[in-house]
Amino acid sequence: MTVIEAIDLSKSFGGPSTPPVLDGISLAIEAGEVFGYLGPNGAGKTTTMRVLLGLLRPTKGAVRVFGEEPGQRDEVRARLGVLFENSGLDDRMTAHQSLDYHARLYGVRDRRGRIDELLDFVGLADRRGAKIGTFSTGMKRKLGLARAIVHDPEILFLDEPSAGLDPEAQRMVRELLQELAATRNITVFLNSHHLDEVQRLCSRIAILHRGRIRACDSVENLRRGAGADRIEVRLSGAAQAARAAEVLMALHRLPHVGVDGEWVTTAIDGMATPEIVATLVRAGLDIEEVTRPVKSLEDVYFEMVREEGAA
Ligand SMILES: Nc1ncnc2c1ncn2[C@@H]1O[C@H](COP(=O)(O)OP(=O)(O)O)[C@@H](O)[C@H]1O
Ligand SMILES: [Mg+2]
Repeated sequence: MTVIEAIDLSKSFGGPSTPPVLDGISLAIEAGEVFGYLGPNGAGKTTTMRVLLGLLRPTKGAVRVFGEEPGQRDEVRARLGVLFENSGLDDRMTAHQSLDYHARLYGVRDRRGRIDELLDFVGLADRRGAKIGTFSTGMKRKLGLARAIVHDPEILFLDEPSAGLDPEAQRMVRELLQELAATRNITVFLNSHHLDEVQRLCSRIAILHRGRIRACDSVENLRRGAGADRIEVRLSGAAQAARAAEVLMALHRLPHVGVDGEWVTTAIDGMATPEIVATLVRAGLDIEEVTRPVKSLEDVYFEMVREEGAA
C-alpha cells in the first residue's frame, strides 16, 4: 500500500522569476519502508517534508499521505510522528513532563506506562525527572524521538536526526531507529545528508539535488546500476593487459577501453561480456578474473550531485 505520494510536486518561494526549490518531484513510498531522502544542504529535503506534512502548500503538483491531501484532518495527523532538526523541546520541562504533554495532546491511553516504556527505549529512564535544559544535544534528540513516537504513529518523518551529534550519539540514534524499524511496522521518511546513516538504515533511497530526484532505488541497485555498463578484466600481468587493450581497441566497437596495471576496463555497450572474453581468449591472452565494478554509495552520490556548471 502506498502511504506517501508526491506527484510532479514543485515548490517556489519567490515569484515566477525565482527558480523553484522543488522542481517536479514524484515519489511513492510503501507502508513499512524506511525511505532515505538524501541530498546536500539546500537540496530541498526539509521543504519536501514540510509539504508532505501539510505545513507548506505545493506550487504545482500534489502530495498524498494515506491517500489524502495532508494537513486537512486531525485523524490523519494523529497517524504521523515528526522529529525536526531543532526538536522544539522546552528546556524548563522535565523529560517526563514533555512526553506527558504530548501524550495528552494525542489522547494516549495509559500514559504512564507508555512514557516509561519510551524513556526506557531511548535510554533516558534515569533522567525522567531532570530538566531538558540540562540535557546534551544527543539526549535531547533521543527525547525528541521518544516524543515523536509517543502516540505510536504509522509514519515517522525524521529531518536529519543525527545532525549536530558526535559520532557516539549518532550511533545511538541510528541504533534506536534500526530497532524501531525492525520491531514496529512503521514507515520512516528519513531526510539526511549522511551517506553512512542512510546506507545502514534505508531499504530505498532517493537522491535529491537542486530540487530534482536524480535517482531512486535500493542502495544495492544504485551501486550496481552505476557500474552496469562496464567490466574489468584482470590478466596475468601488465604486458598481457596492454596487449588485451590493443586487441579490444582494434575491434572499434568498444569506445572506452582503459588499462591500469594488470587490469583492463571497458564499457560493454558495444559488445556482450562473453564475446569480449572469447575475443581475448582467441588472442591467446590469460584471463585471471572478470568483474563488474560495484561503486560505493558515495561514488554514486557524488556523480548525482555534481554541480551542473562543473559537469
Ligand atoms: N521559507 C522559505 N523561503 C524562501 N526560501 C526557502 C524557504 N525555505 C527553504 N528555502 C530555500 O529552499 C532551498 C532548499 O531548502 P531546504 O528544503 O531547507 O533544503 P535541505 O533541507 O535539503 O537542506 C534553500 O535554498 C532554502 O534557502
Ligand atoms: Mg534541511
